[in-house]
Amino acid sequence: MTLVHRVLFPHAIESLEEYLERGGGAGLEAAGGLEPEAIVAQIEASGLRGRGGAGFPTGRKWRTVAENRSPLEPAVVVVNGAEGEPSTFKDRAILRSDPHQVVEGALIAARAVGADTAIFALKRSFRSEVGRLRAAVDEFQAPDFRGGVQLAVFEGPAEYLYGEETALLEAIDGRHPFPRIAPPYRRGVEEVFETKADVRAAQEGSGLSAHVDMAGPTGATGAAPTLVNNVETMANVPRILSRGAAWLRTEGTEQSPGTIVCTITGCTQRHGVGEVPMGTPLRQVIEAVGGGPRPGRRIKAVLPGVANALVPEDLLDTPAGYEGMAAVGSGLGAGGFMVLDDTVDLTVIAAGVSRFLAVESCGQCTPCKQDGLALSGLLARLSASDQHGRDLLASIEVLLSTVANEARCYLASQHQPVLTSVLERFPAELQAHASGRAAALAPELIAELVDIRDGVAVLDERHRDKQPDWTYGPEYSGKSPADVLDEHRDHRP
Ligand SMILES: Cc1cc2nc3c(=O)[nH]c(=O)nc-3n(C[C@H](O)[C@H](O)[C@H](O)COP(=O)(O)O)c2cc1C
Ligand code: SF4
Repeated sequence: MTLVHRVLFPHAIESLEEYLERGGGAGLEAAGGLEPEAIVAQIEASGLRGRGGAGFPTGRKWRTVAENRSPLEPAVVVVNGAEGEPSTFKDRAILRSDPHQVVEGALIAARAVGADTAIFALKRSFRSEVGRLRAAVDEFQAPDFRGGVQLAVFEGPAEYLYGEETALLEAIDGRHPFPRIAPPYRRGVEEVFETKADVRAAQEGSGLSAHVDMAGPTGATGAAPTLVNNVETMANVPRILSRGAAWLRTEGTEQSPGTIVCTITGCTQRHGVGEVPMGTPLRQVIEAVGGGPRPGRRIKAVLPGVANALVPEDLLDTPAGYEGMAAVGSGLGAGGFMVLDDTVDLTVIAAGVSRFLAVESCGQCTPCKQDGLALSGLLARLSASDQHGRDLLASIEVLLSTVANEARCYLASQHQPVLTSVLERFPAELQAHASGRAAALAPELIAELVDIRDGVAVLDERHRDKQPDWTYGPEYSGKSPADVLDEHRDHRP
């Protein structure tokens, strides 16, 4: 199969002039002639779903934000470019390829939801993408383009949790990237709730903050909602406006219209990022983007990021779309796939995922941090073929049932699909360690990608030294990031 190029191009678009020559700007022009309601209706009709991981219908999100406008202040559009999911590099690839389409998408979104500001939230470590985006934002400063909308680039912290949307808003507000208990899509600048009863009501009403439930009415604070969308989601918007809602559906499936930009890493001939029609069989994606398995090797399983179940080899013909991946008990996530072949020990992969999540947990919810750390410790011992292996397996199952209790965001739940899929689909791998038959191994490094250079993924090696309190000192303080950083709350700039 051949790759498609709707939002990711083989040659980078270097300037706004070049972007306009190639037909860029037509979406914004079309949106300028429409009422906000008609723009929202176009996005709804296209069936576009958010590419940040959950696949939430973009039009429905825009409508909720538009309908909950504040009489006191305009809304804000935030583009989530935090991209921290291990095995995922697509947002940075899109920004390197063409940041203009993302800016244009955000300006269209601003018109649709009544926003006066669009903030592009990246990590300050993403040097080349921040540079590309800043240059594009500068070029869009002419009032003709931005129509009174202020454009800003925010450079946030390196933490994985910063990508969670309420944590992202916290960081933009100058606080630590800790998820809030509040309905999503609130403007970032105000604390929304005063009392514990308000907090409980919000939890009951809207579920976890990272779940994509809708914001309620604006309420007494008068704060306007904030629209948060992923970079790839925004990149799809301009052409939906310029070519019509049906255009998106000329690729993809009924429930997953359009394309998906996939990242392939792990045991393949090369690593890379490529755009494919939604619904392309996973095996073909691995071939097209990664060149297939290494010579003489057989794929054992594929890990779609760290929030979805492993897909075993016999299910590799599964269509890479939201409904296709869900049908096999997994998920599309952000389209990042780590390919694992017959040389890979899945116990050390499970231990690596668990360590990543436990370290990245902020610790506002005790089970997430404490049970997560306990899980990762048990899995490290199991990987080392500890003599109490069978007891370890039993304890792992118990902790898996408690780790997500009272969780404020979705990170805590992420332990479950990956580890449960190894327990259920590859029990022999865990048993080999539990019985001491398998060689003692260290957990695999599961970390964010810092780049893909010449077909080789570069992992954030510093994560090996990252302590669960988010410091890089020689020893773990025993405290959670929420405790450590709260101690310094008064001293923050
Ligand atoms: C722990 C965690 C990390 C996340 N990281 C990212 C991220 O790096 N980029 C992103 O777009 N969404 C991330 N998300 C999802 C966002 O919370 C949110 O759903 C998304 O930005 C919404 O955009 P969309 O509707 O366009 O997908 C993360 C969620 C969780 C729970
Ligand atoms: S402790 Fe875990 S579940 Fe709670 S907010 Fe932090 S990362 Fe999310």
